[in-house]
Amino acid sequence: MGRLKDKVAIVTGAADGIGLAISKVFAKEGATVVMVDVNEDKCKREAQAILQQNQNALPLFCDVGSTDMVNGMVQTCMETYGRIDVLVNNAAISVSGLVSEMPDEDWDRLMNVNLKGVFRCIRACMPHMLLAEKGSVVNIASGQAHRSWDNWTAYATAKGGMLSMTTQLAGQFGHKNIRFNSISPGAILTPMAEERIEKEGAAYVKASKLQAAMLRFGKDHEVALAALFLASDEAAYITGDDIKVDGGLCALPRYME
Ligand SMILES: NC(=O)c1ccc[n+]([C@@H]2O[C@H](COP(=O)([O-])OP(=O)(O)OC[C@H]3O[C@@H](n4cnc5c(N)ncnc54)[C@H](O)[C@@H]3O)[C@@H](O)[C@H]2O)c1
Repeated sequence: MGRLKDKVAIVTGAADGIGLAISKVFAKEGATVVMVDVNEDKCKREAQAILQQNQNALPLFCDVGSTDMVNGMVQTCMETYGRIDVLVNNAAISVSGLVSEMPDEDWDRLMNVNLKGVFRCIRACMPHMLLAEKGSVVNIASGQAHRSWDNWTAYATAKGGMLSMTTQLAGQFGHKNIRFNSISPGAILTPMAEERIEKEGAAYVKASKLQAAMLRFGKDHEVALAALFLASDEAAYITGDDIKVDGGLCALPRYME
């Protein structure tokens, strides 16, 4: 308890899945969590549940695909709490499809949320972190940034861009005590994964389990614990790093049927 005491943390995509698990763990460890999501009702309900446990959370409706909304969200956070210690860029959408058949709209929609959304949130938070001369940014990437899965080129490209952004910014702002790290989850059972199970069926479940050395899906809470470590002062000398929370997925050769 208290590993994030007195810290203010923005978590995007906080209403469900990994972002919700991160919000719960952060609040339990003493952070005030600004829960950002486009699913306003669920975000409010989840924040309320956290508040009922005498922990701190503020739900904010915000689409990370909109510059105005992101800037407004960060302004609200500053006006309300006067600081931003941690930013977790977790919000993302999943759009699959053969790259040879993918319409521009699908590619652009995905990049706008999954990659440009990260840039927007970092850009809006940076002036405040620079002034405070401290901060921890945790980017939720994916195992798909490290290896191939058929028909997920756009999604993987955005996650690869996120890893490069993490490295660049870690190098540039280390001397200002602002840390940038990422987490690459493997297959984690969340609503996003359930959507894929619905679309791809038993083959996805089988491949997800068999591609991991641990032969199972990961849990959102298991990703959240890595985010907690990177956000906390326990990781004070860690920047530019990527933690794979993937049950050994990246340690194995690609699984093929
Ligand atoms: N689930 C997995 O297997 C897996 C694996 C690797 C990486 N990831 C990554 O982990 C992160 C979380 O994934 P998840 O599985 O929990 O997803 P999810 O779909 O279960 O939850 C995502 C949340 O983000 C919100 N969101 C979507 N678009 C948004 C936007 N434009 N602005 C604000 N909020 C938005 C959704 O409303 C939802 O609450 C994502 O970055 C995802 O790419 C997930």
